[in-house]
Amino acid sequence: MIHIPKAEYTRRRKALMAQMEPNSIAILPAAAVAIRNRDVEHVYRQDSDFQYLSGFPEPEAVIVLMPGRQHGEYVLFCRERNAERELWDGLRAGTEGAIRDFGADDAFPITDIDDILPGLIEGRDRVYSAMGSNAEFDRHLMEWINVIRSKAHLGAQPPNEFVALDHLLHDMRLYKSAAEVKVMREAARISCAAHVKAMQASRAGLYEFSLEAELDYEFRKGGAKMPAYGSIVAAGRNSCILHYQQNDAVLKDGDLVLIDAGCEIDCYASDITRTWPVNGKFSPEQKAIYEIVLASQEAAFAEIAPDKHWNQAHEATVHVITAGLVKLGLLQGDVDELIASEAYKAFYMHRAGHWLGMDVHDVGEYKVGGEWRVLEVGMALTVEPGIYISPDNQNVAKKWRGIGVRIEDDVVVTKQGCEILTGGVPKTVADIEALMAAAR
Ligand code: GLY
Ligand code: MN
Ligand code: MN
Repeated sequence: MIHIPKAEYTRRRKALMAQMEPNSIAILPAAAVAIRNRDVEHVYRQDSDFQYLSGFPEPEAVIVLMPGRQHGEYVLFCRERNAERELWDGLRAGTEGAIRDFGADDAFPITDIDDILPGLIEGRDRVYSAMGSNAEFDRHLMEWINVIRSKAHLGAQPPNEFVALDHLLHDMRLYKSAAEVKVMREAARISCAAHVKAMQASRAGLYEFSLEAELDYEFRKGGAKMPAYGSIVAAGRNSCILHYQQNDAVLKDGDLVLIDAGCEIDCYASDITRTWPVNGKFSPEQKAIYEIVLASQEAAFAEIAPDKHWNQAHEATVHVITAGLVKLGLLQGDVDELIASEAYKAFYMHRAGHWLGMDVHDVGEYKVGGEWRVLEVGMALTVEPGIYISPDNQNVAKKWRGIGVRIEDDVVVTKQGCEILTGGVPKTVADIEALMAAAR
């Protein structure tokens, strides 16, 4: 299995600590276990920030980083080994494992955190945490601070600055290292194989969930624990519902099916959309729309390179899509005016992409100082233009209604431009039809 090497977690912690103010402390909680129903739990997924800094896969844990501390800068609170609980729920690293396998300088049982953590905070001027994203943790943090305040008369020094950790940490996460790109390539490779399988399996009379099953099988076979987000398998008019989740309609001859799905490897997402005809052959209207979306995506790739700004790729898609819709008679008027009045939004109502990483809609600012961010080597993003013609759109001829097309790939900015991670699944009309014909 391809995964992030241990040394990289150490490097990340050091890099974060190097940016923290002198005499400060950072505190991050692991994700809580989410209950699905009664005593059934959701599959555990570590918090992305916590994972980024530790690679520690367990709940009930807290990372504490104290730059410059003599007795160790990295302390991990975690669950203790427990033969009975491990018999029921699985192995735990325990405090020894936290040090031995996860690089902690010191580790304590999570049950002791209320006794120990105030002492670690005491005397530090600033506390970095993800304020506001976890109400229960915020409350705990204030309790620990209040323990110190209550001892002020004995000379205890509570911190007097609370700083959001997000800015520093999320900026680090925006730039993908070579090891991260390697993991993202692997997630992309598996997701490509899954889309190919779903294309090959596509038949009228099957259901959307039949194709979802093909995706899930390939994801799991590739070692992915779960999809990076709820898979969208949307046939016919459902392809015009951007975040369609039902996945239970029948696949009809003559309809398109849009699949937006990607797996997650070592907590790194992939995010691919392909749209193809259920019966393997595009109708003239489907093909006309598809070609515009594809051309807009190609135009966007050309706008992704160091020194180009974040919005250039989006602007390129808007231009190609608007011009294409005018050419087909779906929009009437001057292309520049239609862009200025945002007339294209009736058909293309989302942006061309988002940052991609540990979160499918990854962290990182899109604007800096009010200006679109300039792209830099190592930034990863999606490119996902689409055209969606509502089944209820009375302004267009009937033959166009209910057609929804999106094409989505994942890229990493390189010195020369960008590397497309998800090239392993066909997307020209000819290549899709050839692949599907061969599978019949
Ligand atoms: N699957 C969510 C997205 O494409 O942004
Ligand atoms: Mn997607
Ligand atoms: Mn996306």
